[in-house]
Amino acid sequence: MTAPIPKRALCQGDNLPFLRALPDASIHLIATDPPFNKNRDFYSADRRAGFRDKWSWEADVEPDWIEFLRAEAAALWAVIETARLAHSQSMSAYLCWLGIRLLELRRVLRADGSLYLHIDGAAQAYVKLLLDALFGAENCRNEIVWLYKTGGVSKRWFSRKHDTIFFYSKSQAYTFRINTVSPISRSSRMRRAIFAVWRCAMSGTFRRCAATRQKPQATPRRSRWRFTSASLAHPAIRAIWCWIPSAAAARLRSRPSGWDGVG
Ligand SMILES: C[S@@+](CC[C@H](N)C(=O)[O-])C[C@H]1O[C@@H](n2cnc3c(N)ncnc32)[C@H](O)[C@@H]1O
Repeated sequence: MTAPIPKRALCQGDNLPFLRALPDASIHLIATDPPFNKNRDFYSADRRAGFRDKWSWEADVEPDWIEFLRAEAAALWAVIETARLAHSQSMSAYLCWLGIRLLELRRVLRADGSLYLHIDGAAQAYVKLLLDALFGAENCRNEIVWLYKTGGVSKRWFSRKHDTIFFYSKSQAYTFRINTVSPISRSSRMRRAIFAVWRCAMSGTFRRCAATRQKPQATPRRSRWRFTSASLAHPAIRAIWCWIPSAAAARLRSRPSGWDGVG
């Protein structure tokens, strides 16, 4: 493809030819959400849309990519080979498919540009290596952890409830406008804490209180109190305490023998 891509265009299809058609250093900000190598198929109910998130050298990798990576991107190729030995053929084929696209993404990025890449735990560690090899580890600005509530619960491991967004810049002179992004402020943290205590007070249970983050003195069973005398006396909790409307606070204080871990 040689025709220039107009501004504000929405392109549909394999992104590699579109990326190759973009001029060098022309993009300020890239946000990308590639397949995760989950070894699953994702299709809509009517199977008219979707994609196969399973990767093999035979079906998904073109021979000229291998030649190019070996000759021009030795560090990327080393990561791909490492993944073949450490993980699987599938992981290395996936990284080859992704690596050839990441090379284009880096090429089109301006010197002051950044890339945000969303990935989950299946390939996250290998993709980090690929990005370090491509951008330089010193240009990794953040590994943003995206927590979510959905997802399976297992009795055999801790729940897998986060994805990662890697934030890399092309150089040290990158654009970052801290005032336009909004990390959770102290005041909104306080509001959330107050709301958590308020909700617990009204429901009469402490099961979901922020204070459960404290190491319990004894493992409480479900529906049992998780506050202890010590945790209630903690200055942070006392500070929240005075925000609870007095009726709810009185209700909490009147709980018989509720403060010492077991109700
Ligand atoms: C993890 S999903 C991202 C989903 C998307 N962010 C959303 O919210 O719907 C990966 C996406 O990459 C797309 N994809 C797979 N191969 C691709 C390719 N060669 N070029 C462009 N997109 C591709 C898939 O169709 C899928 O929608």
